[in-house]
Amino acid sequence: MGSSSIVEKKILILYFSYSHQTINLLQAMSQGMDDHPVKVLLQRIEPTIRLHFPIGTIPKTFWKMVCTLFRQRIPIKPLPELCFNRFDLVILAGPTWSYNPSGPILALFDRDGKQLFNDQVVLPLISCRGYWRIHWWGLKSLLSKCGATVPNVIVFSHPSKEPWRTVGVFLKLAGKVPERMSWINKHYHKYGHTRAQIAEAHNFGEQIAHVLVNDEDLANLDFKTGPALYSKM
Ligand SMILES: Cc1cc2nc3c(=O)[nH]c(=O)nc-3n(C[C@H](O)[C@H](O)[C@H](O)COP(=O)(O)O)c2cc1C
Repeated sequence: MGSSSIVEKKILILYFSYSHQTINLLQAMSQGMDDHPVKVLLQRIEPTIRLHFPIGTIPKTFWKMVCTLFRQRIPIKPLPELCFNRFDLVILAGPTWSYNPSGPILALFDRDGKQLFNDQVVLPLISCRGYWRIHWWGLKSLLSKCGATVPNVIVFSHPSKEPWRTVGVFLKLAGKVPERMSWINKHYHKYGHTRAQIAEAHNFGEQIAHVLVNDEDLANLDFKTGPALYSKM
């Protein structure tokens, strides 16, 4: 047997996920990478305080929306040293909170942004109910200021139709079960992403690993996700 010339690529997936939507996508995505010579480090960004899901009441949910609109930071625990190594790709993943990155991700930028992202290739993954553009522009700008190269973006939106999607997410966060409320459940069947989207994430994982291993350009991948409207940079 001749020795293989394939060098294993290293991927860091850094994520925050409040209601499991982002992590569900990422688990599928990293499984999609399994058959390729890549080494994946999946690292959660962990708040120092426990964040309960759901928020629980309508007033508390409303207040959370206001705080997040003003980009409230949520303090986070230190990351393992390993995360500060060089990677062939860093995937930075998390939800949109009031048109912004979530509080833990903002805190990560404040504390570790330059050290983590300088000179790295960073691919953001956004999980949201549907309003991601301002989040994406802000994230791209934060990453560029840290010295990262951002070749592309992956966006997964909840597939329910408006206005039910917005009302459904609000009710879910407030601790209600919109899927069982007679006035909305005809239009709102499920909170979050569908199985088809999870399968799509798996497929994206395969494509990303393939591109990395073959030293191709991530910018050429078309991450058009289901009904989510995605346009290239
Ligand atoms: C405080 C808060 C604010 C949110 N604001 C937005 C928003 O502005 N735009 C949007 O599309 N989704 C918004 N969402 C919905 C989340 O982005 C969406 O549910 C996402 O799939 C959650 O991912 P996660 O479970 O990984 O945290 C918000 C959710 C929370 C908790």
